[in-house]
Amino acid sequence: MTRRAVIEGAGHYLPDRIVPNSEFEKTLDTTDEWIRTRSGIERRRFAAEGQTTSDLALRAARAALEQAGLVPEDIDGVIVATSTPDLTFPSVATMVQKDLGMTHGFGFDVQAVCAGFIYALTTANALILTGQANRLLVIGAETFSRIMDWTDRSTCVLFGDGAGALILGAQDGEGSNADRGILSSDLNSDGRYRDMLYVDGGVSSTGTAGKLRMQGNPLFRQAVEKLTSTAETALAKIGLSGPDVDWIVPHQANIRIIQGTAKKMGLPMDRVIVTVQDHGNTSAASIPLAMSVGVAEGRIKPGDLVLSEAIGGGLAWGAVVMRW
Ligand SMILES: CC(C)(COP(=O)(O)OP(=O)(O)OC[C@H]1O[C@@H](n2cnc3c(N)ncnc32)[C@H](O)[C@@H]1OP(=O)(O)O)[C@@H](O)C(=O)NCCC(=O)NCCS
Repeated sequence: MTRRAVIEGAGHYLPDRIVPNSEFEKTLDTTDEWIRTRSGIERRRFAAEGQTTSDLALRAARAALEQAGLVPEDIDGVIVATSTPDLTFPSVATMVQKDLGMTHGFGFDVQAVCAGFIYALTTANALILTGQANRLLVIGAETFSRIMDWTDRSTCVLFGDGAGALILGAQDGEGSNADRGILSSDLNSDGRYRDMLYVDGGVSSTGTAGKLRMQGNPLFRQAVEKLTSTAETALAKIGLSGPDVDWIVPHQANIRIIQGTAKKMGLPMDRVIVTVQDHGNTSAASIPLAMSVGVAEGRIKPGDLVLSEAIGGGLAWGAVVMRW
């Protein structure tokens, strides 16, 4: 028997305020047409004033618990992937832990920007496989609207706020690819690409939160190549390849990156969960948000082979293969 980290529930939360592309036409030299055709984004959500990343994370966590039919007492620990925490410290995870009424277990944050949820899932899997925990809440939550330069049309139209959560629980499998749960993962980073996507402030440099800066076009080219390669590596580790995948749940940065990666892997777009049109790029929240939407819409079902891949600042990138 092989211990596996199995997905027991998924949930998400989106702030109420929907911002259509047309809203940017009022303040920037941009058009709905440009944003839609270059990125696939039609609208995004922005958190209300005073609504923080931990508020979004908490609501996603509650939704995942409800979907799984579990209560906070059933959870051993909380991992939050975020680059936009409420405070420099303590972690968003400990805030969620407290707001769920948990006085047991542990919580910590993972920061790998848009690849954060892939890193968090891989970490949670390792904690479960080594017996450190039996059941974990893994959350991706962001308020990227707080680090936008609203005068920079090449970035501020692309990002949004939101949160998604999965519950992973230990179950016994046979040790084959037929098992439910996380089957493989692949993590990468390369700090030489730091200037391609970064925030120009921080605690020990400027003492400010800073604003997001991105070289979109070179990053775009890196993204398709690196996402395809990490996805194929994660699949190859367990003797699988593109056609074995039922659903790709990609990081939702740009529809053209999503299409390019699916095409290189030989998968049609009807096997890809796409939410970028409604959410924009919500960084570490984008994958669990898309997973939760895919489940809620009845597309992702137990037993499906799901591949997730993401790339972001660092550069950091990676992929996870799981049977739902
Ligand atoms: C940002 C992105 C949508 C831009 O698309 P692109 O096809 O690469 O476009 P470019 O950056 O080459 O810009 C083309 C032109 O559009 C202009 N432009 C940029 N933003 C614009 C906007 N919101 N509205 C109108 N024009 C815009 C540029 O100034 C440029 O004009 P120029 O040719 O006169 O210099 C795309 O590069 C992208 O998605 N990059 C990767 C993002 C990513 O991977 N993120 C993952 C990690 S989070």
